[in-house]
Amino acid sequence: MKYTHIKSDLFSHNRKQFSDLLAPKALAVFNSNDIYPISADGTMPFQQHRDIFYLSGVDQEESILVIFPDSVNSAHREVLFLKETSDLIAVWEGEKLSKNQAFEVSGIKTVYWLQQFPTIFKQMMAEAESIYLNTNEHLRASTEVETREDRFIKQVKQDYPAHQVRKSAPLMHKLRSVKHSIELELMQQACNITEKGFRRLLSFVRPSVWEYEIEAELAHEFLRNRSKGFAYTPIIASGKNACVLHYIENNKQCLDGDVILLDVGAEYANYSSDLTRCIPVNGRFTARQKQVYNAVLHVKREAEKLLVPGTILADYHKEVGRLMEGQLLQLGLIDQTDIKNQAADWPAYKKYFMHGTSHFLGLDTHDVGLWHEPIKSGMVFTCEPGIYIPEEGLGIRIEDDLVVQDVGAPFNLMGNIPIEAEEIEELMNA
Ligand code: GLY
Ligand code: MN
Ligand code: MN
Repeated sequence: MKYTHIKSDLFSHNRKQFSDLLAPKALAVFNSNDIYPISADGTMPFQQHRDIFYLSGVDQEESILVIFPDSVNSAHREVLFLKETSDLIAVWEGEKLSKNQAFEVSGIKTVYWLQQFPTIFKQMMAEAESIYLNTNEHLRASTEVETREDRFIKQVKQDYPAHQVRKSAPLMHKLRSVKHSIELELMQQACNITEKGFRRLLSFVRPSVWEYEIEAELAHEFLRNRSKGFAYTPIIASGKNACVLHYIENNKQCLDGDVILLDVGAEYANYSSDLTRCIPVNGRFTARQKQVYNAVLHVKREAEKLLVPGTILADYHKEVGRLMEGQLLQLGLIDQTDIKNQAADWPAYKKYFMHGTSHFLGLDTHDVGLWHEPIKSGMVFTCEPGIYIPEEGLGIRIEDDLVVQDVGAPFNLMGNIPIEAEEIEELMNA
């Protein structure tokens, strides 16, 4: 791992919280992700499943975590099964966790090798009445690939048809959405790395630079700061490309007079940061570009004040829509007739601002969380309003990462990243 050791207290705390939510005589199983193939003997870089990471800190393939708080055998209340390591494996594949290292990472005392799983799991299931399975219930998840977890679920349902099946997902969504102080430190670190990348760009960007050259600068800065790289596929969209919300080609030349939308964040220790800033290619916004920029900044500043305990996200999104409507009227992009004629399910402002304002952020960029419950202190959200005007070749989005606090406005993990149009201009011309 590139990141420095994380105190196992975090993972012990997370397991305790999860265990407290389980039904009596129930166990829960969490699997690692697979290493996905490309072709021939090529593979994608490994990305750990965020749930097993959250509960154990184990960042290694072919790992299984079983949590069984009511096990009669006290050694079986928390158990890790890991790929066996040996001197031979160390030579060919690099070092894998030893049992002792696994304890140091996770705080879990009972560690078996993976080949022991069928036998030990059978003993545990004989004692358990129900099993929590970890299905992916993220609302936007859509994949054709069968995961290691999916295969395990199929097998369990076949092998143990008499056990009651329960869902881990709602418990994980509830727990993962409220961040521990150690998690907030890790997320701050991810944001600080992103800040370094962004500042590097301010003296690098000039007319004729290519979007991929900007991507390379960021990758360089992220990697030299112990990040694995981008937390999500970066969007480096100059001019009209900024109006394509998921533009990830990053292969155009940046033209004098255009604005570049940069939706780029570093990961650190599997935690995401999620930043958007817009900068002028030649170092100066035009009056119109600045007018649109400041309209978006105004909406963002008003919106983030609403991220306080008790807010319901659906109400928040409606309120941000009203704020945006006001700004679009002032910019002359919509008028009262548009508003009068708007459809109930597609307000006029959506012509220029067609995406949501905030999402949960954490181990996943679009993190898990309970969308219909009042928000709580310790949750982290992005705030990312935008205005996209294809007819003007201009798209502006501004995005920061915010921690909901007990009282007052949220804490901005990106509070040090330049955001005022004038400050960006000043730094680009320094
Ligand atoms: N970069 C992904 C998002 O802003 O949601
Ligand atoms: Mn983003
Ligand atoms: Mn975002």
